[in-house]
This record gives sequence, structure tokens and C-alpha cells, in this order.
Amino acid sequence: MKPFLRMFILLFLGASLFSCHDSGGKHETADTLTLSIMKSPFGFVDNKEVFLYTLTNQNDITVKITNYGGIITQIWTPDKDGNPGDIVLGYDSLQEYLDNNPYFGAIVGRYANRIAKGTFTLDGKTHTLATNDGNNHLHGGEKGFDKVVWDSKEIQDSSYVGLDLTYLSKDGEEGYPGNLSVKVTYLLTNNDELKTVITATTDQACPVNLCNHTYFNLSKADTNVLGHILSIVAAQLTNVDNEMIPTSDLPPVAGTPMDFNTPHQIGTRIHHVKGGYDHNYVLDKTEKDLSLAATLSDPKSGRKVKIYTTQPGIQFYSGNFLDGTIKGKEEKVYKKHYGLCLETQHYPDSPNHSKFPNTILRPGEEYREITVYKFGIMN
Ligand code: BGC
Repeated sequence: MKPFLRMFILLFLGASLFSCHDSGGKHETADTLTLSIMKSPFGFVDNKEVFLYTLTNQNDITVKITNYGGIITQIWTPDKDGNPGDIVLGYDSLQEYLDNNPYFGAIVGRYANRIAKGTFTLDGKTHTLATNDGNNHLHGGEKGFDKVVWDSKEIQDSSYVGLDLTYLSKDGEEGYPGNLSVKVTYLLTNNDELKTVITATTDQACPVNLCNHTYFNLSKADTNVLGHILSIVAAQLTNVDNEMIPTSDLPPVAGTPMDFNTPHQIGTRIHHVKGGYDHNYVLDKTEKDLSLAATLSDPKSGRKVKIYTTQPGIQFYSGNFLDGTIKGKEEKVYKKHYGLCLETQHYPDSPNHSKFPNTILRPGEEYREITVYKFGIMN
């Protein structure tokens, strides 16, 4: 080999092996050359420093996550022509998240979704929560898990790169009983999956329902999501009243505009659904396994996301309350249906419905739920 060529190769290998990201002084090793995590300052909240983490895998999928609210701020995946694009709604700056965030990308809890009249009775004691959605409690109250700063730690292995976020929700916070210790692990794998593992323990019985509230738009929010094709593996949903509180019935979806067992464009029947889709689907599962819940694809960009979960339900929210008043990333205006959420979770208001799967966590037990988003291209 010519000396200058050998020198060039050595210099190149050296630069690759010892390339260092600002990730707490962590250097990449030969095993992890294709995966990286970078930590950047994002601002301050409640006198605590907030960071923005950039996770990248070998196929150039990039996910950005902040420890404020556990928010996923960006997910970049290639389209059918290989062009990368950001497929989630959100903001460029921390301040905009502080000013007005309809839960873009956030971890919601202690109880995601609604609790009727902000009250429930547990072991003979009635608890009162904030009513921050008309008469009802929504997504954990006035200052839910989406509005707190989480402790964060980077993690890395040969096949994934990720982040551990932890938060201690104190006894009485937002009216909930017990000190609840929560951990959210986000992992980006070389198989193009974003995996979330959420665990929690408590020192007093309390309801727990945690989920991620990402708004997807596989066309980069250049248009609405009504052309996206959706399928949901659910034969039933939770029937709700006009305040979106479950009535306890689980009607079949067959023969109604709510049926997404056969994949079809969201816009096909949305006009038959008053207000748009905002419903909890009862996933077809008999045990708590990690199974396919929904598949979302976009013929325009060719992008596809498959969602697997251990949770019993998925709330499909078609961005009905987006009204064009929010200007998000890159000045994009988020109009009605410009994003949709597929929130893997327990059924709404479960603490008040004894027939719904249990959401009460007791001391000595561990809450543990996994959701995987698998990114790809349509066939
Ligand atoms: C709920 C919607 C609510 C939205 C807030 C969704 O999870 O189902 O009713 O308006 O969150 O962004």
C-alpha cells in the first residue's frame, strides 16, 4: 500500500474511533461507532438545568429528547426516496414548550387521559384532583409529569443508545396519594425502533397511567394527516359521554366509522365522527404481552410507523383541537388534524370503573409498560 494512502486510512480510523460528542465526556468505542448520543444545553426550569439529547442510529434515524417533561421534540426518519424528515410536532425552543404545549411529545401522568370530576375513591378514601379539563381531570392535572424537570442519564450499548429519566412525584402532588418513583427509559436501536420502558413504584396505593403523547405527521406537517393510512388492532372501544368520560360500555367497532381493523385513510370516515377521533380503543389481547397495536403509514412520503405495546388500550386522537394558532418548528402552522396521537395507555377513568383493567399500583408492586415504535417504509 502506498505510504500516503496508509497514512490517510490510519488518520481516518483514528478520527472515527476517538470522535467525541459532548455527552458527559463519553467517547465512542469501536462497538458503538454507529450509535451516538449528544447532550446540549436547552435552558432552565424551576432553577434546574434542562438538556436536549440527540440520539442517532446507524441508519441515520435521529431522535431528540429533553428532560423537561420527557418530551420527544424531534424524530427524523427517511422517506421513500431516502430524504430525512422530522415526523413529530413540537417547538424549536424550550420557552415555547413552557408557554403553550398541548402535550407535544411529552410523558403524561400520573394519570394519562381523564378522571371524571377529578375524583376517585380508593380503599374507602375519596381523593380530589385538579379539574383542568372542564369538570374533569386530564393528563395529571395543572402540573403533570409533562411540566417537570426529570433527572437524566445517558445509556449506551452495542445495539442501542438511550436515556434514563427519573422523577419522584411526592405524596399529595396534584392530589394523588403516595410518593411515586417513576423511570422512563427511551432507547433508539439499530433496528430502527424507539423503545420506551416506563416503570414506577409507590409507598401508598395510587392510580398510575403513564404514556407518551407524541403527535405524528409522517409528511413533516406540510399537510394534514387525513391522507395517512391507519390500522388499529381493536374490536372494541370505550364508549364515552359528551365530556369524553367512559360510560363503562365497550361497544364493538365493526360496521361503524370507528373501525380501523382494515387499514384505511383517516379522512375516509372522519366526517361521520362528531369532533373527530378522540377515543380509547380496547386492544385485542388476552394477556399483557408486547403486541402490535397500530400501524400508521403515509402514501405521500412512504413512511411507516408500527406501534407495539404491553398496554391494554390506545387513545387515537386526530389533533381535533389544533386550530392554526400554534406555530411550531420551522414556523410551521399546526392546523386542525395536522398531527395525530396514538397514546398507548390504560382506559380513561379506570379508577372509577371496577370492570376496567386495574390501574391501582400498591406498595411492593412494580408498574411496568413497554411501547415500541418501529420506523420503516411502506411496501
Ligand atoms: C386527549 C384529547 C386532548 C388532548 C390534549 C388527548 O390525549 O384525548 O382530548 O384534547 O390530549 O392535547
